[in-house]
Amino acid sequence: MIPAGQMWDRRFSEHEWPSEPDPLLVELAASLPPGRGLDLGSGPGRNSLWLAAKGWNMTLLDASGVALVQAGQRAEKAGVRIETVQADVVGWQPAGAIYDLVVVANLHPGTDALALVLSAAAGALVADGHLFVVGHDLVNLGRHGPPDPERLLSVDRLSRALPATVSVEKLELRTRRSGPSAEPDEDDADVAVLAWASKRAG
Ligand SMILES: C[S@@+](CC[C@H](N)C(=O)[O-])C[C@H]1O[C@@H](n2cnc3c(N)ncnc32)[C@H](O)[C@@H]1O
Repeated sequence: MIPAGQMWDRRFSEHEWPSEPDPLLVELAASLPPGRGLDLGSGPGRNSLWLAAKGWNMTLLDASGVALVQAGQRAEKAGVRIETVQADVVGWQPAGAIYDLVVVANLHPGTDALALVLSAAAGALVADGHLFVVGHDLVNLGRHGPPDPERLLSVDRLSRALPATVSVEKLELRTRRSGPSAEPDEDDADVAVLAWASKRAG
C-alpha cells in the first residue's frame, strides 16, 4: 500500500467525489486541440473524464487504488477510455516527454514535494505542452483543503514550486464556486491558486 493512498482510499470509499471538472481547467483547456494528457493525483478522475470526453487520451496517476477503480467505473459509464497508474507521485519520474497537457489539481503535498512533482510534470510535457496547476490558497485554512497550513498553497509558494523549464502564462488567485470538497453539502466559494504554463522549447 502506498502510504499517501490509505487516507484517500477511505475518503473515496465513504464519500462520493464530485464528477464536474474544475471550472478553471474548463476555462483554460477547453480550446486546446485534444492530445495526450496526464493527470497527477487524479482522484476518481473528474478532470480527466471531462478531457477524455473531448477526445483527449488520458492517463491518470494516483496513490489511491479506490480512486482509480472509481475512475475506471466512471469512464466505462461515460463510454470513454482511460489509462490508470497507481503510484506515489512524489518521486515519480516520467518515461519521456510525451504529454500535451499535465494536470495537477488539488494535490497539496507541501511546497518542496510540489516542486519535485512539478519538475517531473514538466519533464513529461512535449515542447509547448501545457501545465495546469490548481490548489487551495492559505486563506481557506479550516474550510477547504488540507488542515495543515504547510500544505496549502499561495501564489508565492506555487511560484517557488514551478520549474524554470516552463514559461508561466498565468499565476493568480481565483475564486471557485464549487470546490472539490468531499462534503456533499459544502459548496461555499474557495480561493484557488492557479498556474497555467507551457514547456519551453529546447
Ligand atoms: C484532493 S484529491 C484531488 C483529486 C483530483 N485531482 C481533483 O481535483 O478532483 C487529492 C488526490 O491526490 C492523491 N494523492 C495525494 N498524495 C499523493 C501522492 N503522494 N501520490 C499520488 N497521489 C496522491 C490522492 O489519492 C487524491 O486522489
